[in-house]
Amino acid sequence: MRLNSPQINIIIKACNKASRSLIRDFGEIENLQVSSKGPGDFVTSADKRTEKTIIEELQKAHPDFGIITEESGIINKSNSKNRWIIDPIDGTMNFLNGIPQFAISIGYEENNEIMCGVIFDPIKNEMFCAEKGNGAYLNNSRIRVSNKKNLKDALLVSGGPKHSSQIKEKIFSEFINVSKKVFAPIRKFGSAALDIAYVACGRFDGYWQRELKYWDIAAGIIILKEAGGFIDFFEEEKKDPLKRNILASNSNIHEELSELIIKKNIE
Ligand code: IPD
Ligand code: CA
Ligand code: CA
Repeated sequence: MRLNSPQINIIIKACNKASRSLIRDFGEIENLQVSSKGPGDFVTSADKRTEKTIIEELQKAHPDFGIITEESGIINKSNSKNRWIIDPIDGTMNFLNGIPQFAISIGYEENNEIMCGVIFDPIKNEMFCAEKGNGAYLNNSRIRVSNKKNLKDALLVSGGPKHSSQIKEKIFSEFINVSKKVFAPIRKFGSAALDIAYVACGRFDGYWQRELKYWDIAAGIIILKEAGGFIDFFEEEKKDPLKRNILASNSNIHEELSELIIKKNIE
């Protein structure tokens, strides 16, 4: 791999360390599933434990950097110049059910721009990495988005809506509209970070989802861009600056897909 910023090395080290206990915890899930208590609390503590290990590792290198995390909120709020963005387990529902489709996702941001990121699937031992200007990699191989030309031939992935969503009907009708334009049924894999990483390496041709959080996709942004993909954030909400609606795809189908999802205000 030809990535060498100090930050990416720090992130990779943190991912490797945190993944050891995560793999052990995943092994425990099967036993817990048959217990009367169920794995609910155990999963919450796996999330917290993983996040703690990651934060400790990152802070060893830069105690002063800001951190946005899913479980602990914002740390070192006054430093918004250098920030880590962490999702310790993206795909918790999969993890909870013993489904091996989840990942650690860590991005690094300077002056509000993502400079590098890592999405690590510890079960399949797949590490997706990128840093600005240096391309994107899956383990030691350079990755690129697919070259699929037409939306109708594309394999797409999406997600949601969340249980708490106020726009369920809108999300489902969008799903139906897009489904009508493609031959292959749209996938739902349950990990936003891996969904984007899979677009970056050409497994999927496109991905869209509403009501995500920044930590779900921070690392994915740079990985997709460095793999030659296009990304749009749409309908942002000032009252919730961490919320994201995202559309990510190869460059060929981007316009066609965005016309179905992002409604332009035509006057
Ligand atoms: C979730 C996953 C899922 C997406 C949800 C996210 P979590 O993250 O990325 O794919 O549909 O919106 O909240 O809770 O597993 O970290
Ligand atoms: Ca997440
Ligand atoms: Ca999570």
